[in-house]
Amino acid sequence: MSVETSKQPTDLHTTPSELIRLEQVTKRFGSNTVLDHLDFSVQAGRHVTLIGPSGSGKTTILRLLMTLTKPDEGTITVDGQRLFPASDKQCREVRKQIGMVFQQFNLFPNMTVLRNITEAPVTVLGLSKDEAEARARELLDLVGLADKCDARPSQLSGGQQQRVAIARALAMRPKVLLLDEVTSALDPELVAGVLDLLRDIARTTDITMLCVTHEMSFARDISDQVLMFDSGRVIESGPPEQIFGDPEQDRTREFLSAVL
Ligand SMILES: Nc1ncnc2c1ncn2[C@@H]1O[C@H](COP(=O)(O)OP(=O)(O)OP(=O)(O)O)[C@@H](O)[C@H]1O
Ligand SMILES: [Mg+2]
Repeated sequence: MSVETSKQPTDLHTTPSELIRLEQVTKRFGSNTVLDHLDFSVQAGRHVTLIGPSGSGKTTILRLLMTLTKPDEGTITVDGQRLFPASDKQCREVRKQIGMVFQQFNLFPNMTVLRNITEAPVTVLGLSKDEAEARARELLDLVGLADKCDARPSQLSGGQQQRVAIARALAMRPKVLLLDEVTSALDPELVAGVLDLLRDIARTTDITMLCVTHEMSFARDISDQVLMFDSGRVIESGPPEQIFGDPEQDRTREFLSAVL
Protein backbone atom coordinates (compact mmCIF):
# COMPACT_ATOMS: atom_id res chain seq x y z
CA MET A 1 0.00 0.00 0.00
CA SER A 2 1.29 3.45 -0.73
CA VAL A 3 0.45 6.19 1.68
CA GLU A 4 0.56 9.73 0.43
CA THR A 5 1.96 12.20 2.87
CA SER A 6 1.57 15.92 2.38
CA LYS A 7 4.62 18.07 3.02
CA GLN A 8 4.23 20.57 5.81
CA PRO A 9 6.51 23.54 6.47
CA THR A 10 9.08 22.70 9.08
CA ASP A 11 9.82 24.97 11.97
CA LEU A 12 13.47 25.96 12.41
CA HIS A 13 13.49 24.78 16.00
CA THR A 14 13.14 21.10 15.16
CA THR A 15 15.27 18.82 13.03
CA PRO A 16 13.47 17.92 9.79
CA SER A 17 13.13 14.24 10.58
CA GLU A 18 11.61 14.80 14.00
CA LEU A 19 7.88 14.26 13.67
CA ILE A 20 6.64 14.37 17.26
CA ARG A 21 8.16 16.33 20.08
CA LEU A 22 6.92 16.67 23.65
CA GLU A 23 8.81 19.19 25.76
CA GLN A 24 8.38 19.51 29.49
CA VAL A 25 4.83 18.21 29.28
CA THR A 26 2.98 18.07 32.58
CA LYS A 27 -0.52 16.65 32.93
CA ARG A 28 -2.44 16.61 36.18
CA PHE A 29 -5.81 15.20 37.09
CA GLY A 30 -6.65 17.07 40.29
CA SER A 31 -3.76 16.45 42.66
CA ASN A 32 -2.55 13.47 40.62
CA THR A 33 0.43 14.48 38.46
CA VAL A 34 0.27 11.89 35.70
CA LEU A 35 3.00 13.26 33.44
CA ASP A 36 5.76 15.24 35.08
CA HIS A 37 7.83 17.49 32.77
CA LEU A 38 7.99 14.76 30.16
CA ASP A 39 10.37 15.15 27.21
CA PHE A 40 10.50 12.84 24.26
CA SER A 41 10.54 12.86 20.50
CA VAL A 42 9.80 10.44 17.70
CA GLN A 43 11.59 10.53 14.36
CA ALA A 44 9.58 10.34 11.14
CA GLY A 45 8.88 6.82 9.97
CA ARG A 46 9.90 5.23 13.25
CA HIS A 47 7.89 2.66 15.17
CA VAL A 48 8.02 3.46 18.84
CA THR A 49 6.43 1.38 21.57
CA LEU A 50 5.49 2.62 25.02
CA ILE A 51 5.58 0.02 27.76
CA GLY A 52 5.13 0.34 31.49
CA PRO A 53 2.84 -0.46 34.39
CA SER A 54 -0.86 0.34 34.51
CA GLY A 55 -1.47 3.98 35.36
CA SER A 56 1.99 5.13 34.25
CA GLY A 57 0.50 7.60 31.72
CA LYS A 58 0.79 5.76 28.40
CA THR A 59 -2.79 6.34 27.24
CA THR A 60 -2.63 9.92 28.47
CA ILE A 61 0.25 10.61 26.07
CA LEU A 62 -1.72 9.26 23.11
CA ARG A 63 -4.81 11.22 24.18
CA LEU A 64 -2.73 14.41 24.35
CA LEU A 65 -1.48 13.83 20.82
CA MET A 66 -5.03 13.14 19.66
CA THR A 67 -6.10 16.40 21.40
CA LEU A 68 -8.66 14.49 23.45
CA THR A 69 -7.14 16.15 26.50
CA LYS A 70 -4.79 19.11 27.00
CA PRO A 71 -1.57 19.36 28.98
CA ASP A 72 -1.28 21.74 31.94
CA GLU A 73 2.23 22.78 30.92
CA GLY A 74 4.72 22.20 28.15
CA THR A 75 4.66 22.12 24.37
CA ILE A 76 3.71 19.50 21.81
CA THR A 77 4.92 19.80 18.22
CA VAL A 78 4.00 17.63 15.25
CA ASP A 79 6.08 17.95 12.11
CA GLY A 80 7.36 21.33 13.21
CA GLN A 81 3.91 22.74 13.90
CA ARG A 82 2.54 23.44 17.34
CA LEU A 83 -0.27 21.21 18.52
CA PHE A 84 -0.14 22.71 22.00
CA PRO A 85 -0.29 25.54 22.81
CA ALA A 86 -2.07 26.50 19.59
CA SER A 87 -5.24 28.16 18.36
CA ASP A 88 -8.24 25.88 17.81
CA LYS A 89 -7.82 26.28 14.07
CA GLN A 90 -4.13 25.33 14.12
CA CYS A 91 -4.87 22.46 16.46
CA ARG A 92 -7.48 21.06 14.05
CA GLU A 93 -5.05 21.35 11.12
CA VAL A 94 -2.17 19.64 12.90
CA ARG A 95 -4.45 16.98 14.32
CA LYS A 96 -5.38 15.84 10.78
CA GLN A 97 -1.95 14.27 10.55
CA ILE A 98 -2.68 11.91 13.42
CA GLY A 99 -4.87 8.81 13.46
CA MET A 100 -5.70 6.69 16.47
CA VAL A 101 -6.98 3.17 17.01
CA PHE A 102 -8.50 2.46 20.40
CA GLN A 103 -8.72 -0.64 22.54
CA GLN A 104 -12.54 -0.66 22.25
CA PHE A 105 -12.65 0.07 18.46
CA ASN A 106 -15.05 3.04 18.95
CA LEU A 107 -16.78 2.53 15.59
CA PHE A 108 -19.98 4.48 14.90
CA PRO A 109 -22.60 1.79 15.61
CA ASN A 110 -25.36 3.34 13.49
CA MET A 111 -23.26 3.58 10.32
CA THR A 112 -22.26 0.90 7.83
CA VAL A 113 -18.63 -0.18 7.68
CA LEU A 114 -18.13 1.86 4.50
CA ARG A 115 -19.63 5.00 6.04
CA ASN A 116 -17.51 4.58 9.18
CA ILE A 117 -14.47 4.90 6.93
CA THR A 118 -15.72 7.64 4.57
CA GLU A 119 -17.21 9.95 7.20
CA ALA A 120 -14.07 11.80 8.34
CA PRO A 121 -12.38 12.01 4.92
CA VAL A 122 -15.56 13.71 3.62
CA THR A 123 -16.30 15.97 6.58
CA VAL A 124 -12.77 16.77 7.75
CA LEU A 125 -10.63 16.49 4.60
CA GLY A 126 -13.32 17.59 2.14
CA LEU A 127 -13.02 14.56 -0.16
CA SER A 128 -15.95 13.92 -2.51
CA LYS A 129 -18.15 10.97 -1.60
CA ASP A 130 -16.82 9.02 -4.60
CA GLU A 131 -13.18 9.67 -3.72
CA ALA A 132 -13.76 8.71 -0.10
CA GLU A 133 -15.57 5.52 -1.11
CA ALA A 134 -12.82 4.51 -3.51
CA ARG A 135 -10.26 5.05 -0.77
CA ALA A 136 -12.40 3.12 1.74
CA ARG A 137 -12.85 0.15 -0.59
CA GLU A 138 -9.10 -0.01 -1.21
CA LEU A 139 -8.46 -0.02 2.55
CA LEU A 140 -11.16 -2.62 3.23
CA ASP A 141 -9.42 -4.78 0.68
CA LEU A 142 -6.13 -4.23 2.48
CA VAL A 143 -7.59 -5.28 5.83
CA GLY A 144 -9.35 -8.29 4.27
CA LEU A 145 -12.93 -7.06 4.65
CA ALA A 146 -13.88 -6.07 1.10
CA ASP A 147 -17.15 -8.01 1.45
CA LYS A 148 -18.27 -6.18 4.62
CA CYS A 149 -18.91 -2.69 3.20
CA ASP A 150 -22.62 -2.74 4.00
CA ALA A 151 -22.43 -4.52 7.36
CA ARG A 152 -22.99 -2.70 10.66
CA PRO A 153 -20.24 -2.93 13.30
CA SER A 154 -22.50 -5.11 15.50
CA GLN A 155 -22.55 -7.74 12.75
CA LEU A 156 -18.76 -8.11 12.85
CA SER A 157 -16.42 -10.00 15.18
CA GLY A 158 -14.15 -7.99 17.47
CA GLY A 159 -11.17 -8.69 15.21
CA GLN A 160 -13.13 -7.53 12.16
CA GLN A 161 -14.27 -4.39 13.98
CA GLN A 162 -10.69 -3.60 14.88
CA ARG A 163 -9.64 -4.04 11.24
CA VAL A 164 -12.34 -1.56 10.24
CA ALA A 165 -11.05 0.84 12.91
CA ILE A 166 -7.54 0.51 11.47
CA ALA A 167 -8.88 1.15 7.95
CA ARG A 168 -10.79 4.16 9.27
CA ALA A 169 -7.64 5.64 10.80
CA LEU A 170 -5.63 5.01 7.60
CA ALA A 171 -8.32 6.63 5.44
CA MET A 172 -7.21 10.01 6.78
CA ARG A 173 -3.71 9.29 5.42
CA PRO A 174 -2.14 10.25 8.72
CA LYS A 175 1.59 10.71 9.17
CA VAL A 176 1.28 9.29 12.66
CA LEU A 177 -0.74 6.29 13.78
CA LEU A 178 -1.41 5.95 17.51
CA LEU A 179 -2.30 2.47 18.70
CA ASP A 180 -3.54 1.96 22.24
CA GLU A 181 -3.61 -1.70 23.26
CA VAL A 182 -5.54 -2.47 20.11
CA THR A 183 -5.69 -6.22 20.69
CA SER A 184 -6.41 -6.35 24.39
CA ALA A 185 -10.21 -6.44 23.98
CA LEU A 186 -10.03 -9.28 21.45
CA ASP A 187 -10.57 -12.99 21.90
CA PRO A 188 -7.17 -14.69 21.88
CA GLU A 189 -7.68 -16.37 18.50
CA LEU A 190 -8.36 -12.99 16.85
CA VAL A 191 -5.24 -11.27 18.17
CA ALA A 192 -2.73 -12.74 15.70
CA GLY A 193 -4.65 -11.56 12.62
CA VAL A 194 -4.79 -7.95 13.80
CA LEU A 195 -1.11 -7.97 14.82
CA ASP A 196 -0.16 -9.42 11.42
CA LEU A 197 -2.08 -6.60 9.74
CA LEU A 198 -0.21 -4.02 11.82
CA ARG A 199 3.11 -5.70 11.03
CA ASP A 200 2.22 -5.40 7.33
CA ILE A 201 1.37 -1.73 7.72
CA ALA A 202 4.62 -1.12 9.59
CA ARG A 203 6.60 -2.90 6.88
CA THR A 204 4.94 -1.47 3.81
CA THR A 205 4.14 2.16 4.69
CA ASP A 206 6.12 5.13 5.92
CA ILE A 207 3.64 5.91 8.70
CA THR A 208 5.18 6.79 12.04
CA MET A 209 3.72 4.50 14.70
CA LEU A 210 3.41 5.17 18.39
CA CYS A 211 2.12 2.08 20.00
CA VAL A 212 1.07 1.09 23.52
CA THR A 213 0.97 -2.67 23.84
CA HIS A 214 1.25 -5.51 26.29
CA GLU A 215 2.07 -7.86 23.40
CA MET A 216 5.78 -7.95 24.00
CA SER A 217 6.69 -10.20 21.07
CA PHE A 218 4.82 -7.83 18.74
CA ALA A 219 6.63 -4.88 20.34
CA ARG A 220 9.93 -6.64 19.82
CA ASP A 221 9.08 -7.30 16.14
CA ILE A 222 7.90 -3.92 15.00
CA SER A 223 9.68 -1.42 17.24
CA ASP A 224 12.70 0.64 16.36
CA GLN A 225 12.63 2.04 19.85
CA VAL A 226 10.98 1.04 23.12
CA LEU A 227 10.26 3.57 25.88
CA MET A 228 9.77 2.26 29.38
CA PHE A 229 7.46 4.45 31.45
CA ASP A 230 7.06 4.61 35.15
CA SER A 231 5.07 7.24 37.04
CA GLY A 232 4.80 9.53 34.02
CA ARG A 233 8.50 9.52 33.16
CA VAL A 234 10.58 7.68 30.60
CA ILE A 235 12.94 5.74 32.81
CA GLU A 236 14.70 3.86 30.03
CA SER A 237 14.65 3.76 26.24
CA GLY A 238 16.48 1.91 23.53
CA PRO A 239 16.17 -0.62 20.74
CA PRO A 240 13.98 -3.63 21.59
CA GLU A 241 16.95 -6.03 21.82
CA GLN A 242 18.37 -3.88 24.60
CA ILE A 243 15.17 -3.17 26.53
CA PHE A 244 13.89 -6.75 26.34
CA GLY A 245 17.28 -8.47 26.37
CA ASP A 246 19.42 -6.45 28.75
CA PRO A 247 17.55 -3.62 30.47
CA GLU A 248 19.56 -1.23 32.61
CA GLN A 249 16.92 -0.34 35.17
CA ASP A 250 15.74 -2.71 37.88
CA ARG A 251 12.22 -1.32 37.43
CA THR A 252 12.23 -2.34 33.75
CA ARG A 253 13.52 -5.80 34.65
CA GLU A 254 10.83 -6.18 37.29
CA PHE A 255 8.08 -5.02 34.91
CA LEU A 256 9.21 -7.33 32.11
CA SER A 257 9.46 -10.35 34.37
CA ALA A 258 5.83 -9.74 35.38
CA VAL A 259 4.50 -9.43 31.81
CA LEU A 260 6.70 -11.78 29.77
N1 LIG B 1 -9.96 11.47 32.80
C1 LIG B 1 -9.26 11.20 33.90
N2 LIG B 1 -9.61 11.71 35.11
C2 LIG B 1 -8.86 11.46 36.21
N3 LIG B 1 -7.75 10.69 36.21
C3 LIG B 1 -7.37 10.16 35.06
C4 LIG B 1 -8.09 10.37 33.83
N4 LIG B 1 -7.45 9.71 32.84
C5 LIG B 1 -6.39 9.12 33.41
N5 LIG B 1 -6.32 9.38 34.73
C6 LIG B 1 -5.29 8.90 35.66
O1 LIG B 1 -4.03 9.12 35.04
C7 LIG B 1 -3.14 8.06 35.33
C8 LIG B 1 -2.55 7.55 34.03
O2 LIG B 1 -3.58 6.95 33.27
P1 LIG B 1 -3.32 6.31 31.86
O3 LIG B 1 -4.64 5.88 31.35
O4 LIG B 1 -2.53 7.24 31.02
O5 LIG B 1 -2.41 5.06 32.24
P2 LIG B 1 -1.88 3.87 31.34
O6 LIG B 1 -0.40 3.86 31.47
O7 LIG B 1 -2.46 3.95 29.98
O8 LIG B 1 -2.45 2.60 32.12
P3 LIG B 1 -3.03 1.19 31.55
O9 LIG B 1 -1.82 0.35 31.22
O10 LIG B 1 -3.80 0.63 32.70
O11 LIG B 1 -3.90 1.49 30.35
C9 LIG B 1 -3.91 7.06 36.16
O12 LIG B 1 -3.58 7.28 37.51
C10 LIG B 1 -5.35 7.40 35.89
O13 LIG B 1 -6.15 7.10 36.99
MG1 LIG C 1 -3.81 2.79 28.91
